[in-house]
Amino acid sequence: MNYIGSKHSILDFIESSILDFTKEEGKVFCDIFAGTGVVAKRFKQDGYDVISNDLQYYSYVLNKHYIENNKEITFNGLKKIGIKDVFIYLNKLDNYQGFIYNNYTLEGSNERQYFTEYNAIKIDSIREQIEKWYKKGNIIDNEYYYLIACLLEAADKVANTASVYEAFLKKVKRSAQNELILKPLPIIINKNTYNKVYIEDSNELIKCISGDILYLDPPYNSRKYSSNYHILETIAYGDYPMIKGKTGVRTDSFKSDYNKVNNVAIAFEELIKKANFKYIFLSYNDEGIMSLEQIEKIMKKYGKYHRYEKNHKRYKANKDKEVSKKTTIEYLHALKKYD
Ligand SMILES: C[S@@+](CC[C@H](N)C(=O)[O-])C[C@H]1O[C@@H](n2cnc3c(N)ncnc32)[C@H](O)[C@@H]1O
Repeated sequence: MNYIGSKHSILDFIESSILDFTKEEGKVFCDIFAGTGVVAKRFKQDGYDVISNDLQYYSYVLNKHYIENNKEITFNGLKKIGIKDVFIYLNKLDNYQGFIYNNYTLEGSNERQYFTEYNAIKIDSIREQIEKWYKKGNIIDNEYYYLIACLLEAADKVANTASVYEAFLKKVKRSAQNELILKPLPIIINKNTYNKVYIEDSNELIKCISGDILYLDPPYNSRKYSSNYHILETIAYGDYPMIKGKTGVRTDSFKSDYNKVNNVAIAFEELIKKANFKYIFLSYNDEGIMSLEQIEKIMKKYGKYHRYEKNHKRYKANKDKEVSKKTTIEYLHALKKYD
């Protein structure tokens, strides 16, 4: 998934810097602003017990699958369909015009062209079927999250956007014309790990958890994830929210303290102070609303500080827009907390 602030392309840098600073000490790794879960996934693969968390429900669903699922999915309650044929069955569904069709297609909403008519009906039909199976007890929790995660990844591939859901394109782009295909996502199996996923505000969760390595990757600016990814949130919930405006954004979309210039430093310091973790790492780039000096000053109060850095290709939400700056510097701030 093309996600704002995704660490997909700098995973090796993050992993090697963390291993260098901690000297590979520690067993419990927490990714408290997990987003797509790429960092949490890497540390699960490496054998750490992982705690993952994010405020958004689509992220919770993705991480419930990638982080908590730790064995093959069996679909024992769907024996009538045939375990192997579950995806064939779901891919044939095209009979339900639901919330996505009625609000995010030209045909259903008369304005918003986020999906083709066919793909929107398919999203609605598959999402409805998953819910029916779950309510009837045909699928259990881990299968439920697995199937919704597969649907989120598949829907995102055929969305008619420049990349985020704050706007749709006037013309249906090539990838959005493709038929949505629900595919089984990989399952990360590491039997040596114990993993847990939360959906909470970071600064609340921090009071209830402990571990060895805390990785922080908060938003860098005022762009709200809840409105940038509002349709993924609705597909994940499978609900019928109040929406507004040209883009049909959920009225319950909200700003995190980490998006607010006046709150971010206070929230950040509180998180560091309360953290019951020996090592703390913060990913932040040189365009963030907290300055390098501000971060360093806060972190130095709580222990031994070091900084790693790397040039990184700039994220472009709109590929057609000219941007003058091609790269940013990605910092990984590292702290070994005083006892
Ligand atoms: C920069 S992104 C994380 C990207 C992630 N590391 C990845 O590679 O996909 C920041 C994430 O923080 C989440 N977030 C924002 N404020 C939060 C808060 N107060 N508590 C928990 N998560 C929050 C957002 O929903 C978003 O997914």
